Amino acid sequence: TAPLLNKNLFEPNSFTFLDQPNDSFLINHHQAATADNTFAASDDEVIPTIDYCMLFSDDQDQQFKALKYLGQVCEEYGFFYLVNHNISYHVFEDIFKGISDFFDPTTLEERVVYEKKSHTDRMRWGLRSSSGENREYLKVIAHPHPHFPSKPSNFSEILEEYFKEMREIELGLARAVSKTLGFEECYIEKALNLKSGFDVSSMNLYPPNYKSKGRIGVPEHTDPGFCVTLVQDVNGGLQVLSHQGKWINVYLPRNAILVQLGDHLEILTNGKYKSHIHRVIVDNNQMKRISVATLHGPSLDTFVSPAPEFVDEEDHPPAYLAMTYKESLEANGGDEIDVQSSMEKIR
Ligand code: SIN
Ligand code: FE2
Repeated sequence: TAPLLNKNLFEPNSFTFLDQPNDSFLINHHQAATADNTFAASDDEVIPTIDYCMLFSDDQDQQFKALKYLGQVCEEYGFFYLVNHNISYHVFEDIFKGISDFFDPTTLEERVVYEKKSHTDRMRWGLRSSSGENREYLKVIAHPHPHFPSKPSNFSEILEEYFKEMREIELGLARAVSKTLGFEECYIEKALNLKSGFDVSSMNLYPPNYKSKGRIGVPEHTDPGFCVTLVQDVNGGLQVLSHQGKWINVYLPRNAILVQLGDHLEILTNGKYKSHIHRVIVDNNQMKRISVATLHGPSLDTFVSPAPEFVDEEDHPPAYLAMTYKESLEANGGDEIDVQSSMEKIR
């Protein structure tokens, strides 16, 4: 059986948050109990916290412990709160403000030009209000050839800054995760061609429950790529499914980033590090919620298959079909988030 996680390895109180205001959690507007409990999720389960700086600590002993813990978390959870990542909170505040302005109800007509027509569109806007999905979103390519809207003013600069910071984190995590697998730190970056990787960001606005047409913000899915970095302006609504099949409410500490491992890390490691299902519900939201979910993927032409290091024909035969990242996105209907994951077709 898998070793139990030492959840107390890093006491949350020992973190030093940058720009940390007095209240250490985002506003919580979500209660776990729902009318008929269909979408209820646990408030008691601990989502592990990873201290980014410790992964690169000069103190070898500390670094070793931090990497060991990260390895356990990747194997047993596939998602974690990332703290001590050196990104100033104003970068998050700026993007929330920019998104809020972009989604200003009085300028709806200006956004319709970005309405999704094809999955190759470089910016894709959509407004969903149905029993199955309730959100307004804008998806942009963040890397390698960014495409950002020209309005509101400053928005593109804000996005540029935000995505620059998130890429640093992505590449840093790729180094650390490679080490947890016992490889050179450049292993994942090379295997998935992350330097020229394809990053798509989905900026979402969820209405308060009384303005939604159903209880679901985004239906359950996994995400492609190496990993997703996610921030949100208020807590409440995002739920992750643990490998044990338990739904857990995400309550991000202020200035923390939720990291979710993606399908293509799962493929590369032949299932050692798995992606996980998550969803957004809106049925208890008293106010709107903004989230930014950035999918950090391989370059589109990268052929991803279970790496030989994770395959042995007897005990661990290759469990996934090999294909390019582009092909797997296309198998997914060409849309990285709206449809059930490509994994359903690949597995
Ligand atoms: C979120 O808005 O919190 C998550 C969106 C997604 O995973 O699609
Ligand atoms: Fe997602």
